[in-house]
Amino acid sequence: MGSTLIQPHGGKLVDRTGASDGQATTASVTLTQWQQCDFEMIGIGAMSPLEGFMGEADYNSVCDNMTLANGTVWPLPITLAVDNDTAGKVNAGDKVALNDGEGRLLGYMTVSEKFTQDKKRQATKAFGTEDIAHPGVKVLMESGDTCLAGPIDVVTLRHGPMFTDHRLTPAQTRAAFDKRGWKTVVAFQTRNPIHRAHEYLTKCAQEMTDGLLIHPLMGATKDGDISPEIRMECYEVLLEKYYHPDHTMLAIMPAAMRYAGPREAIMHAVLRQNYGCSHIIIGRDHAGVGSYYGTYDAQNLFDTLPEGGLKIVPLKFEHTAWSKAAGGMVSNKTFPNIEGDRIFLSGTKVREMLVAGERPPIEFTRAEVADILIRSMKNS
Ligand code: ADX
Repeated sequence: MGSTLIQPHGGKLVDRTGASDGQATTASVTLTQWQQCDFEMIGIGAMSPLEGFMGEADYNSVCDNMTLANGTVWPLPITLAVDNDTAGKVNAGDKVALNDGEGRLLGYMTVSEKFTQDKKRQATKAFGTEDIAHPGVKVLMESGDTCLAGPIDVVTLRHGPMFTDHRLTPAQTRAAFDKRGWKTVVAFQTRNPIHRAHEYLTKCAQEMTDGLLIHPLMGATKDGDISPEIRMECYEVLLEKYYHPDHTMLAIMPAAMRYAGPREAIMHAVLRQNYGCSHIIIGRDHAGVGSYYGTYDAQNLFDTLPEGGLKIVPLKFEHTAWSKAAGGMVSNKTFPNIEGDRIFLSGTKVREMLVAGERPPIEFTRAEVADILIRSMKNS
């Protein structure tokens, strides 16, 4: 029997892997960390229907309308910006080598066009701010002015990849769901260790679907975020002790984090649809940073998409926290707000406690996770 899983975004799962090396090229381009993540995501089909980095018509349409030029929903520009020196050496029609930061070949791009990106406009549209203090805007503003566009062909997805056991392509993830007999799967996007509020969302969502895919973003993140290795330890200990193995899967997503809040929430949904997930958890301030976005802006943006624009369904959660009076996790939707009742800890406060070797309350973080984080802070 064929797969009954959700269709990929745009209808067809892209696969740009399997190219051979030694191809004739006219220039080489060194990809930044962020671009290497995009390269891998495009190559494995996680960014279907994209087959390469965007050209100007898609770029403009994405910025202005949140769709590709052909009308397919697409929230964020996926571009290959290069410095002036490199741009000067490349013309439409060229084949260029794409290398990692150490000069090792990753693959090729057949250049279809060159165009100048409008960084300020893009910042306003995609990030909702031009503030250079925003970590995604900073990467954008420091990038080159010229974008090279065209399909890519992957020789090597990444040299020395981490977590190879958990680094599944969309096709492999879909095959794993089929093997388990899952038809509906909810994805949990995270860039953090799983705290009790996260755990609550995943368990609530899991009640409504055949399976839960814990799908941490493990590509480029900003300074100050917990390292991928430590996060992985936290996920593994939780999975072993607190999740049902028949209904839970852990795999990583090698995407870069843009911190673009609402538009990135849509991006995260598109990506998970390609991975075969029917649902995605969207909680408070999804993919946000600092105070650039409102608590429910990301959830609300889903409501503006055209009917059928996305097949994956967002499962929206209110801000949740442990209530002493209720003796469990609640939100303002499930339990009245009583002054001083909720266990709220700021990220800064949690960090201070962990650095001091102190476990946060178990209503906030399970002891097993706290101990891993305490150890990691001692060693850093
Ligand atoms: S994110 O950048 O990946 O969104 P994080 O790892 O903190 O950040 O969040 C993962 C998911 O859990 C997101 O959907 C986020 O909105 C949600 N979330 C995190 N904490 C809470 C909370 N206390 N209440 C409701 N949703 C939450």
